[in-house]
Amino acid sequence: MRKKIAAGNWKMNLTLQQGNELVKDVLQNGKPTDVEVIFCVPYLYLKDLNELVREANGFYIAAQNLHEKEKGAYTGEISAIMLKHLRIRYCILGHSERRQYYNDSDAILKEKLNIAYQNDITPIFCCGESLEIRKSGKHIEYVINQLKNTLFYYPDKISGTIIAYEPIWAIGTGETASPEQAEEMHAAIRSELSKKFGENIAENVSILYGGSVTPANAADLFSCANVDGGLVGGASLKAEDFTRIINSF
Ligand code: PGA
Repeated sequence: MRKKIAAGNWKMNLTLQQGNELVKDVLQNGKPTDVEVIFCVPYLYLKDLNELVREANGFYIAAQNLHEKEKGAYTGEISAIMLKHLRIRYCILGHSERRQYYNDSDAILKEKLNIAYQNDITPIFCCGESLEIRKSGKHIEYVINQLKNTLFYYPDKISGTIIAYEPIWAIGTGETASPEQAEEMHAAIRSELSKKFGENIAENVSILYGGSVTPANAADLFSCANVDGGLVGGASLKAEDFTRIINSF
């Protein structure tokens, strides 16, 4: 069964001390028992923060990226094996900022998925179209293609994977996809999963919406039949806002 998930993507924000306080506050504020909360934090904080949530039920720490190779001469990079050994079980892959600024192409993301799966790391796999593509009316076809070029190569692993639909025009812009726009895309993704891999698998993939999720719009988005939660950037940096989002299901 698919899970309800509120994931916070801190990106390159907060000091370790600020992050610590934020996680502590969110833990203290609590969450519905059937909601999973994932903090996607800078690499440097993984160990400390993982320790902080270790005893809290349903709270997890995730990385925001990993390298596609197992190991080697890749100065400054972090491998899936390193994450596994820190007991990190989730990792964002394919965020549009990584696709845009760091050359995370579909071909590289296919490799990143492979190495993540090999190391028992569940991807939070991002997809989403630009404004130009949205305006052309080809957004569904485009996003399904992103998945076909990457995730769909791993039929045995897809069950349990988290997909995050994040239209690029909605990320950090304050412009959110309407619940209808989100539901249209999420339903299309699930239907494609079902067609290719069967209904059981399709029902076991949580599809999150991301892009200017706030306490004010979360409930409407999360009430859509195929929206299983959110990947939240800016609004995950304040304990009060993120808590309200976590409690919007
Ligand atoms: P945002 O970011 O909520 O600040 O729009 C979402 C994301 O990039 O994951």
